[in-house]
Amino acid sequence: MSIFDNTIIRRHSNSVKWDAMEKVYGLKGASEILPMWVADMDFAPPAAVSQALQEHAENAVFGYSFISEKALQSIVDWQDTRHGWHIDKDSILFNNGVVSALANAITAFTKLEDKVLISSPVYPPFFNIPKSNGREVVSCPLVEKDGTFVFDFEAFEQALAQNVKAYILCNPHNPGGYVWDEATLKEIVRLCAKYDVVVISDEIHSDLMLEGAVHTPLAKVAGDEIDRIITCMAPTKTFNLAGIQIAYMIVTDKKKRAQLEAVNMASGQGSLNSFAPIAMHAAYTEGSAWLEELLPYISNNMAYVMAELEQLPGIRVEKPQGTYLLWIDYREMEIDEEVMMQRLLEIGKVALEPGTKYGEEGRGFLRMNVACSFETVKDGVTRFKRALL
Ligand SMILES: Cc1ncc(COP(=O)(O)O)c(C=O)c1O
Repeated sequence: MSIFDNTIIRRHSNSVKWDAMEKVYGLKGASEILPMWVADMDFAPPAAVSQALQEHAENAVFGYSFISEKALQSIVDWQDTRHGWHIDKDSILFNNGVVSALANAITAFTKLEDKVLISSPVYPPFFNIPKSNGREVVSCPLVEKDGTFVFDFEAFEQALAQNVKAYILCNPHNPGGYVWDEATLKEIVRLCAKYDVVVISDEIHSDLMLEGAVHTPLAKVAGDEIDRIITCMAPTKTFNLAGIQIAYMIVTDKKKRAQLEAVNMASGQGSLNSFAPIAMHAAYTEGSAWLEELLPYISNNMAYVMAELEQLPGIRVEKPQGTYLLWIDYREMEIDEEVMMQRLLEIGKVALEPGTKYGEEGRGFLRMNVACSFETVKDGVTRFKRALL
C-alpha cells in the first residue's frame, strides 16, 4: 500500500483539472468525465508542506513578506543534491509561475517583432507567450528518429540563422517526456552561442526523473556560455503545488538579472504570496522521501497503461524518461483528431489532451496524465478502451 493509492475526491474544489472541463472541452455533462489532461497530480503534497502552511496560517497576520535566507538556501541545496548543480544564491530571481518567468524573459531579452525560436511539439505557452507579447515565433520541429522525437541540428542552425534573438528549450520535454542528454544540450548551447541567441531553459519537470534517468541542467553544461542561459525552475510540478504559485529563475549574468528585475518593476510585480516560499522550503527540505516514493509509483502507472493500450491496434506508446505524461501515438488508426476527442469524451468519458495543442507535429498523438492513484489509472484505461471499441 502506497500513500498514492489513496484516491482523493477533487471534484467541486475549483480544480481546473476536475471542474473546468465543461468550459475547456465545450461540452455538457463534464461531471462524468475522468480528467487525465492538465499537468497536475491528484496527490496531496508531502505532509511537511501542509503542516508548514498550517503553521503559517495560524500566524494570522499576512502582511508583505520577503523570501527568507533559509528558503533561498533550500533552493541552492536542492539543486546541489538533486542535480549536482552548484548555484549562487545571488543568481536567483522569483516569479509566481514559470509561464510568467518565460514572459518576463521574452520581454527582457527581445524586442517587439524579434524572432523567438521553439522546438515543437511543445508546451503551448512557448507559442502563445512570445506571440501575445508581439514577437514572431519561429518553430523548428523536432523530428522522428527510431520512434522518438529528436533535434535536427541542421534545421535548428538554419532557423537560428534567421536573426533569432531567443530560444525557449523544454528540458525535460513536455509533451514527450524526453530527457535531453549532455551532448544534445551542449550542441544547443554551441549553436545558440554561434548566433548570439539567449536561451531560456524551462526545467520545471526536472525533478520528475524515472527509472534512473538523469536530468542535466542546461546551464551546468554551458561552460563559458553560461551567461546566455536563463533557467526556469519550480517546486510546483515536483510536489503538486501549482495552485500555490512559485517559480524561480537562475541567472548567472548580473546584467541580465538587472534587465529581468526592470521588467518586474515595470509591471508592478513584486513580492510573492507569503505562503509560497514556506511551501517550497518545506518541500525542498522535507519532501525527498515523498518524491522517492512518487517516482516508481508513476513508472508503475505508466507501465500498466502502456501494456494495456498497446494491445489496441494502431496505438503505440513510448515510455518517457521523465514527467508523469504519456505521449500516445494513434496515427496508424487513421482517425481524425476531432473524431478521436469526441469518442474519448462522449463514449469513453475520459479527457486527454489532443496532440495539436502542442503544434501541428502533435497531430495523431494524445497526452495522458497518469499522476493519479492506480485505481484511477485503471478506470482511465477502461474508459479509453471503451471509447475505441
Ligand atoms: C514545460 C512547462 N512549463 C511551465 C508550466 C507551468 O508553469 P507555472 O504553472 O509555474 O506557470 C508547465 C505546466 O504544465 C509546463 O509543462
